Amino acid sequence: MPTHVAVIMDGNGRWAKKRFLPRFAGHTKGVDTLREMVRGCLDRGIPYLTVFAFSSENWRRPQDEVTLLMQLFMKALQQEVKRLNRHNVRLRIIGDISQFDPKLQELIREAEAQTAQNTKLNFTIAANYGGRWDIMQAVNRMLAAQPDKRDGWVEADLEPYLSMSFAPEPDLFIRTGGEERISNFLLWQLAYTELYFTGTLWPEFDTEAFEAAITSYRQRERRFGRTSEQLAGDSAKTDTHA
Ligand code: IPE
Ligand code: IPE
Ligand code: MG
Repeated sequence: MPTHVAVIMDGNGRWAKKRFLPRFAGHTKGVDTLREMVRGCLDRGIPYLTVFAFSSENWRRPQDEVTLLMQLFMKALQQEVKRLNRHNVRLRIIGDISQFDPKLQELIREAEAQTAQNTKLNFTIAANYGGRWDIMQAVNRMLAAQPDKRDGWVEADLEPYLSMSFAPEPDLFIRTGGEERISNFLLWQLAYTELYFTGTLWPEFDTEAFEAAITSYRQRERRFGRTSEQLAGDSAKTDTHA
């Protein structure tokens, strides 16, 4: 099983269009899919789920779609916290939330605080998030913390300042909706993640579809730069010691 699954939930608009519905109907249906996905992670004992809900580029959409998305986000935060608590799910939001309406910022802080003690699933929503933004805010905070240090920085110096510093890097990345790109999602953290793309539109990404993604993941050989033979040798060693 993957420890950390990261998802770009794409295809809501096309799902709605196929049904002659307004795009927004797809986003609403997408919330139901997300609830199911959270349950799917709980059922499988997957401890980290991170989803891309709104990118820093999504402000470019028509104003009425952006407004409706923000309202949907607020409504979901208000309605779902109880359920998250019941299932021992901790909610975090990553991204530049200072750009959101103060009321939404307040709801985000409340939802995070109300679920902060939960331990079964770390559920993270990326909102007004961009991978490049994340790296830059981390660099700025890292430099500010040690203003006298001029050189010799290493990767491990930056990592504590990244938005996902609390989590291991994603094992499995899923993008629904048929597009095969990262769209400025977790850039630093996806360096060695197994990528899974599916044409299934997000509102139709049900538990069988999730299972298919996990099955694909389990067939991958994660070499992290090593050779297959080295990996076979390592597992033989582990087997004899066990
Ligand atoms: C993803 O679905 C949801 C958000 C970006 C908020 P889209 O709205 O991008 O759906 P398509 O890609 O237009 O079908
Ligand atoms: C990416 O989806 C971001 C989210 C799912 C929130 P988009 O549909 O906005 O991505 P592009 O613009 O097609 O790459
Ligand atoms: Mg899209």
